[in-house]
Amino acid sequence: MKILILATKNEAVERTVRLLHTAIRKKPNLVLGLATGGTMLDVYQSFAKSALSAGLETDKLTTFNLDEYIGLPANHPQSYRTYMNDNLFANLNIPLSQTYIPRGDALDPEEEAHRYEALLSAAGGLDFQLLGLGENGHIGFNEPSSSLASRTRVKTLTRSTRDANRRYFGCDEGVPKLAITMGIRSIMDAKSIVLLATGSEKAQAVFDMIEGPVSASCPASALQFHQNTTIILDQSSAAELRNTEYYQHVHKDGV
Ligand code: GLP
Repeated sequence: MKILILATKNEAVERTVRLLHTAIRKKPNLVLGLATGGTMLDVYQSFAKSALSAGLETDKLTTFNLDEYIGLPANHPQSYRTYMNDNLFANLNIPLSQTYIPRGDALDPEEEAHRYEALLSAAGGLDFQLLGLGENGHIGFNEPSSSLASRTRVKTLTRSTRDANRRYFGCDEGVPKLAITMGIRSIMDAKSIVLLATGSEKAQAVFDMIEGPVSASCPASALQFHQNTTIILDQSSAAELRNTEYYQHVHKDGV
């Protein structure tokens, strides 16, 4: 794992955007795995803006989102399809037909999950997966106790994830209880992975992911088995780490 600790959230976001640019410049037809959540909002804003100003070729990308809430049609204001269209795709030169997100309103969600995993493998698998981190250590919607060998499937959301996402839905009853998510194995098959976590509320999960044992109790700890993962942190999310001196020695200020 490459651990980059940046001074501020903004610098951590910009570092993430730079890695995206580098990967796309190297391979314009990149198969790119995308995440949602509050952390990614700044990333997508900066990425779309800088892609435009730098003349980055984005129209050959194929994107696969990690997850979608079950029960929400694509045009629901809180669906991840709406999130992606509004916050990234509308501001990027990419045909929507090259952007994949599981269908939350599929009649048979299990079948939709299999279809999605098959689409992913037909595209040749992920070249680059961008990840956020749940406060409980989840990646995508792989909640604690998820099989580390899982593929895309239906998952029940935990109380803590539903609480964290309640702010978007206004009331508790509105927060979906189930989601379709890429599995941990599906994510681990990506050739390279970049995970961005900022803020003190992620500090415990960051510690568990990097310095804790590999365990389904912290799904992100599976990344310890991945050969090309970069973790980008700010000072607050890195606060619980014990080997900070070493990480700073190897990559001073995230360089
Ligand atoms: C949701 C998404 C995850 C994301 C997480 C973190 O649960 N399914 O992919 O990483 O939120 O969200 P935030 O960045 O808002 O803390």
